[in-house]
Amino acid sequence: MPFAVPKVDRDRLVVLLGPPGAGKGTQAKRLAQRYGIPQLSTGDMLRDARAKGSELGKRVAAVMDAGHLVSDDIVIALIEEKLADGSTKGGAIFDGFPRTVAQAEALDAMLTRHGRHVDRAVLMYVPDDEVVRRNSGRRMCSKCQRTYHVEFSPPKVADVCDACGGELIQRADDRPEKIRARLEVYHREAPLVGYYEGKKLLRRVDGIGLLDDVYDRLARAVDGNGDDR
Ligand code: AP5
Repeated sequence: MPFAVPKVDRDRLVVLLGPPGAGKGTQAKRLAQRYGIPQLSTGDMLRDARAKGSELGKRVAAVMDAGHLVSDDIVIALIEEKLADGSTKGGAIFDGFPRTVAQAEALDAMLTRHGRHVDRAVLMYVPDDEVVRRNSGRRMCSKCQRTYHVEFSPPKVADVCDACGGELIQRADDRPEKIRARLEVYHREAPLVGYYEGKKLLRRVDGIGLLDDVYDRLARAVDGNGDDR
């Protein structure tokens, strides 16, 4: 790790915001490891439900493939379950949740019931043309969901996961017309940035650059020392 984790007794409940393909998932995994807390990705939870062929997975498949948001009540229930199971003691990195003001309010209400609150919201800003480049080159392991990029972080062997040997696939929502639909949805979520800004919890971080450089900026923002607005 590039610099030490400050020894602060903090409940690190961190919300990562940013467009599709900003690198939220990539960096959420690293931050979760840094602080020894879980990454809570509603996208991963929904894809997992689909892979298992559950009723929930079947209900959300078409909406996800179209690049639209699934209903608030579904994702709120997924997060509520995680907050109740004790795994987030010490904190969590929320990746892809909340996505709407209704979800943000529900998260605040759930946390309040547990005597907790969001500690930081970090917006990773990445321009639209870079979003298209990142999403269209992304490949995901069909078994363990590890993410690669054909140009920026390719696997050692083409189309094979370094970690588990699984086949790498392109997400259905990473096709060009679906990326545009997801970007449109994202730009409609702008009020969420204002929501956290109004609570003085928002930090903005440049999402462009080497993975390690972006990670350093994020860790500084989460630790409370950096705000490159
Ligand atoms: P979700 O999985 O959350 O998708 P997303 O927000 O569109 O985010 P992505 O996973 O596409 O991107 P990311 O920011 O994590 O980027 P990544 O690290 O992979 O949600 C999918 C769907 O589920 C939604 O469309 C919706 O239908 C549903 N859903 C989920 N949550 C919901 C909610 N709360 N409410 C309602 N519906 C919900 O990086 C992308 C690529 O870029 C990778 O290839 C990576 O290798 C590469 N990369 C990363 N960083 C860099 C860098 N610095 N330089 C170069 N390449 C980089």
